[in-house]
Amino acid sequence: MQYRTLGRTGLKVSLLSQGTGGPSQFGQKRGLLQAEQNRLIRRCLDLGINLFDTHESYGESEAILGRALQGVPRDDYILVTKWAYPRDGDPTGDPEELARSVERSLRRLNTDHIDVMLFHGLLAEHHDMVVERYMPVLERLREHGLVGHRGFSLRYFIDPAQCGATAGLKKAPDLWDVIMLKYGILNQYAEREMLPLALEHNIGILNMAAVRIKLPNPQLLAETIADWKSRGLVPQNALADANPLDWLIHDDVESVIAAAYKFAADHPAITSVITGTSNLDHLEANVRAMENPALDPADRARLERLFGHIVEYA
Ligand SMILES: NC(=O)c1ccc[n+]([C@@H]2O[C@H](COP(=O)([O-])OP(=O)(O)OC[C@H]3O[C@@H](n4cnc5c(N)ncnc54)[C@H](OP(=O)(O)O)[C@@H]3O)[C@@H](O)[C@H]2O)c1
Repeated sequence: MQYRTLGRTGLKVSLLSQGTGGPSQFGQKRGLLQAEQNRLIRRCLDLGINLFDTHESYGESEAILGRALQGVPRDDYILVTKWAYPRDGDPTGDPEELARSVERSLRRLNTDHIDVMLFHGLLAEHHDMVVERYMPVLERLREHGLVGHRGFSLRYFIDPAQCGATAGLKKAPDLWDVIMLKYGILNQYAEREMLPLALEHNIGILNMAAVRIKLPNPQLLAETIADWKSRGLVPQNALADANPLDWLIHDDVESVIAAAYKFAADHPAITSVITGTSNLDHLEANVRAMENPALDPADRARLERLFGHIVEYA
């Protein structure tokens, strides 16, 4: 496993990290038992994964993760969790809600500190309100040693132009240590402003949902490419209608998904790609993909020509 430094936090993070949300939600969506979830986490640790991402709203994920990590030395892993500030941007919200959320997370995760605390799904229009209203509480929690570093994640499913990342990075780059965003084969727009700004300000980037949701599903992938062709976003003859990305599979690239994880990691601003799998075989394959996190340069250039100009959720 390769390790990269999470920006100015100085934390050394595995290139592949493990999420407990997404479509699988730590196997909760497919009835995984605690013993299997324990096995998944232990296998992650054996494979060198040292960062786990969670959220108080990912079902029971925080508690499941806390149980799975019982007995593991606390210095051996990094915990990232989040707080969903009022979704409507209510400027009268109680700032102590953040402190109560952190207390609940600490209890469920069975730990005395959270390494990275994120404001979940920060919109540009809420950036200033969040900083003014909630940052003082977060700073107090940091002074008390309950939280290490601060950041935010994006709402990946909305118009990327409305995301808080660029606004936050431009307005207050020193306030943010870590940003969680989506950057992948079909979602390259972060490369325009967000990733260069993160590099400039030494902000750690955790890459979320880089594969979901189209890439693991051949039918959805084919439909997306067909839609982009019909709208003139991709030239009609540029890709086959069926399995349009299978040309990426050669040499050490086992599958389109492997290509997607490599693409997601192959940028100097990206610290770690968070996989959301709850399947042990998939986990092993994803770790193998990270052994050499570089795509063939000609393939990468072709992906940039094909999709680099597209700014929409996929
Ligand atoms: N706004 C936010 O804060 C936010 C938003 C999204 C995600 N996140 C975080 O980022 C994490 C990662 O996002 P994600 O869960 O969407 O991750 P992802 O790894 O991009 O996508 C997960 C999906 O891909 C499938 N998959 C993964 N590896 C596979 C393989 N080798 N072969 C076939 N299918 C494979 C999984 O199915 P299987 O389980 O069957 O492998 C699952 O359906 C989340 O768990 C969460 O912690 C945060």
